[in-house]
Amino acid sequence: MRIDIVTIFPEFFATLDVSLLGKARQSGLLQTHVHDLRDVTTDKHRTVDDTPYGGGAGMVMKPEPWGDTLDAILADPDSSQRPVLIVPSPAGEPFTQVVAKELSQEEQLIFACGRYEGIDQRVSDHFATRMTVRPISLGDYVLNGGEVASLAMIEAIGRLIPGVVGNPDSLVEESHEDGLLEYPSYTKPAVWRDLEVPQVLLSGNHAAIAAWRHEQQLERTKRIRPDLLPE
Ligand code: ADE
Repeated sequence: MRIDIVTIFPEFFATLDVSLLGKARQSGLLQTHVHDLRDVTTDKHRTVDDTPYGGGAGMVMKPEPWGDTLDAILADPDSSQRPVLIVPSPAGEPFTQVVAKELSQEEQLIFACGRYEGIDQRVSDHFATRMTVRPISLGDYVLNGGEVASLAMIEAIGRLIPGVVGNPDSLVEESHEDGLLEYPSYTKPAVWRDLEVPQVLLSGNHAAIAAWRHEQQLERTKRIRPDLLPE
């Protein structure tokens, strides 16, 4: 998969070098390209924002640097026919494991990291004819910009690319994989600070362990995330 990231803070993406995604990049499973939006500006101050039409607080990102940067990405012969443009925004559709899985099957994702009050709407409107544009929200809270949200999405999507996580079994029994939160996990020692590992996990009875884990998933989900359960 190819991932392009457009940002005024390329430094945020240095962390793509570490851990599983760093390895995926080294092995060629994942190619990432970080583009500094200011590189296409021509004025002395490398301006990327301006005041909003209609008034109001804050600044809006100007369409021209976005247009030039996205045009250049599309003109790259290695770009796919129709990439997905992800626009992180608290006004987007919720990011879920289902969305992560969908996006992990794409050839190319472009993350448009907005700052300030967002990007001039015409950027999404224009590129919708050449890309699949998806405004996506990480949750019902406001971040300062799209960089941290993009990193979270890239990690969630990247680990679903076949080969990125060494043992694919570890992707199966996770929270949200079957619509439930995951069960609690324990390792050695069997007693720690007077707290014992649940007896059933030491029993060697695989059916009993599976049943216990499923019960724990249901109990946890009911208590913490009842909205995930069917009526
Ligand atoms: N940018 C600012 N807030 C955000 C959020 N909650 N999700 C995605 N991108 C954002």
